[in-house]
Parts: sequence; structure tokens; C-alpha cells
Amino acid sequence: MPKLIVVTREGEEREVMGEAGLSVMEVIRDNGFDELLAICGGCCSCATCHVHVDPEFAAKLPPMSEDENDLLDSSMDRDSRSRLSCQIPFTEALDGLKVTIAAED
Ligand code: FES
Repeated sequence: MPKLIVVTREGEEREVMGEAGLSVMEVIRDNGFDELLAICGGCCSCATCHVHVDPEFAAKLPPMSEDENDLLDSSMDRDSRSRLSCQIPFTEALDGLKVTIAAED
């Protein structure tokens, strides 16, 4: 099982194991990080699953869709590392991925 490192808004860092095939959002949510609201359940329509991804993994991520890009534009905390975690399938190739939960909008 690949490992995911999650940094909370308070800066607390925790390593969790995630099942490949889930989305990064689902791995975060299933491990009890309730500050990641993921209100739409992964339909790419809420932006409450916004995370900042470690730049080291940028090349391994799937490209961003137009919908994801538009939704991220609505966030004040958007930067070059921003992604919607529901749009990133968690795979063995992402073992060790580090994401920081973005500020609440
Ligand atoms: S969970 Fe709503 S956009 Fe990701």
C-alpha cells in the first residue's frame, strides 16, 4: 500500500497508508482528517478538497482538467502547487506523496 503524508492546516504532519485506486481525497478523508470537507464527494464541483502538492511529485500527477482549474480559481489560497485531491487517483507511483490541506475559503 502506498504511503501518503498529510500536513494539516495547523502544520501537523501524519503518515497514512492508502489503498491504491482510491482518490487522494478519499485516502485523506478515510483517515479521519475532517478539516478536508470534500462536500461534493469527489464530483469536481466544490473545491473543498483543495490541497497543496509537494512539487517533487508534480510530474507524476495527472493533468488538470478545465473544470478543476476553474474551481481552483475560486480559492483565495490557490498557488502553483494547488490541486483538488479528488482529482488525483492514488497509485503506487505516488508512494510518499506529501500534501498540505489548503486554507479554508
Ligand atoms: S470533493 Fe468536491 S471538488 Fe473534490
